[in-house]
Formats: sequence, C-alpha cells, structure tokens
Amino acid sequence: MIKHGVVFVTGANRGLGLAFVNEARRQGAARIYAAARDPATLDAVVAVDPDRIVPVRLDVTNPADCAAAALACADTTVLVNNAGVLGNYGGFVTRPDQTAIRHEMEVNYFGVLNLCQAFAPVLARNGGGGIVNILSILAIAATPVVGSYCASKFAALALTRCLGAELAAQGTRVQAAVPATIDTSMAADYPGPKDAPDFVARTALEALTAGEAEVFIGPLSNEVYAQFRRDPAGLARDRAQMLP
Ligand SMILES: NC(=O)c1ccc[n+]([C@@H]2O[C@H](COP(=O)([O-])OP(=O)(O)OC[C@H]3O[C@@H](n4cnc5c(N)ncnc54)[C@H](OP(=O)(O)O)[C@@H]3O)[C@@H](O)[C@H]2O)c1
Repeated sequence: MIKHGVVFVTGANRGLGLAFVNEARRQGAARIYAAARDPATLDAVVAVDPDRIVPVRLDVTNPADCAAAALACADTTVLVNNAGVLGNYGGFVTRPDQTAIRHEMEVNYFGVLNLCQAFAPVLARNGGGGIVNILSILAIAATPVVGSYCASKFAALALTRCLGAELAAQGTRVQAAVPATIDTSMAADYPGPKDAPDFVARTALEALTAGEAEVFIGPLSNEVYAQFRRDPAGLARDRAQMLP
C-alpha cells in the first residue's frame, strides 16, 4: 500500500512524524507530503529527498488549512494523522482550567476529524487507500495523571473505529495505531523504556499494508492491552495509582 503510493503525514517536521516520512521513503512511496504548522521547520526534512518530499503548511486545528491541503494534495492515497499534543499534566478537578484540556481535544480529536473529513473524498477518488491514526495505549488505559490526554485519545479511538465502518464501503482502510511510550520530545521527561520512532512508524505502515485495523505497537502497548482484555478492573486499579 505504501510502495508507489502517495503518503500525507501531519506533524512531519519532528518526532514520530519525521519517522513516518523516512519510513514511507524506505518503503518506496512515490511522493510524501510532509505537513507542519511552520514550513521553515520542514527545510531539512525536504532536503533529504526533494524529488519525493513536498512541504505543506498545515495546522490540523484549522479546517480551511485541511481543505486546502486536500485540494493541493489530491493524489494522496494514505493519510497519516500523527500530529498530537500532551499539554496537561494534572487532574480534571485538581487542575480545573480547561485551556489545555480543550487544546488537547482540538488537536488530538478535532484535528484528526478535520483531516479525515477533508481527505476521505480524495482517498475514495484514488481507489480507497488508507488512514493511519496515531493513538496511544492511553486510549485504552485510563490514567489520571494525564486524564485529559487520555480522554482525547479515547475519543480519537472511537472516531477511528466508527470511521473505519463508515469508509469500508469506499474501500478505505482506517487503522488505529496504538503505541506506548516513544522516544520523542513528548516523552522527554519519562524515565522508562521507550520505543524508537522508526520502529513505531515501520510497524504501523506494515500493518496498514497487511490490513490490520488495530495495531498495538511495542512490548508495553501489547502488555497493557493484554491486561485490559484479561483483567480490566486490575488495570484500572493499577492506573489509578498514577495520580496527578
Ligand atoms: N511520544 C510518545 O511517548 C507517544 C506515545 C504514544 C502516542 N504518541 C502520539 O504520537 C504522535 C506524535 O507525537 P510525538 O511523540 O512525535 O510528539 P512531538 O515530538 O511532541 O511532536 C508533535 C508533532 O505534532 C505537531 N503538532 C502539534 N500541534 C499541531 C497542530 N495544531 N497542527 C499541526 N501539527 C501540530 C508538532 O508540530 P510543531 O513542531 O509545530 O509543534 C510536532 O510535529 C502524537 O499523536 C502523540 O500523541 C506519542
């Protein structure tokens, strides 16, 4: 699905998004649209392979940007909704200011929705294609210390599942990619083991080609998901220890 395909990646200037650009190249994509809020941050990304990597200015929270991108990148066959924020360490009640909570929802849920709505007709015209939504194991395990981030990813997981059913008729695969902790700036303060961004991107794109609707990526993600299936109450108890 990636080989000879045209891949559009949000948040492509750094972190996991940059890894998706590299992995799409490695798997033989014909073109990769690298999208970021500030096109200047894409200069080094594009310089690696200017014949295949095309910069796009895009704030995922801006529906007009998303519509313009869908128009300009009308040959896209795979959309990777990678851009995301973890902006609020704190409880819903102990830290009641909703500014950061709403921003997480704007980027992690409505941003994904904006792109899916803009690109679904493009993908249909191009034969179906696929959408990869980057979620998190925190879309499965409710964890109070990052409760509002969890809520945004739970919402995005529900969106992914419902959209998968909705777009099946047009032949579009919609994948939930569910990593645990990844070695990027988002997890800079996390001391535990982290998966390499390249590994996460490779696993997600290979799973898309294989037709997997949900892929749990890395040992921790698989371990937590296994516990969720085996003993959801136990997982909830464990996670409840992680208080803000
Ligand atoms: N790191 C982890 O441990 C981890 C674990 C599970 C899931 N994830 C998910 O993986 C994805 C990538 O995160 P990361 O680890 O690569 O984090 P990161 O290094 O902080 O990168 C976040 C990316 O999202 C972009 N972004 C943020 N808001 C945006 C907006 N409104 N419009 C467009 N782009 C925006 C950032 O662009 P700017 O440079 O302009 O800020 C940046 O490119 C996210 O969805 C995250 O939730 C991460």
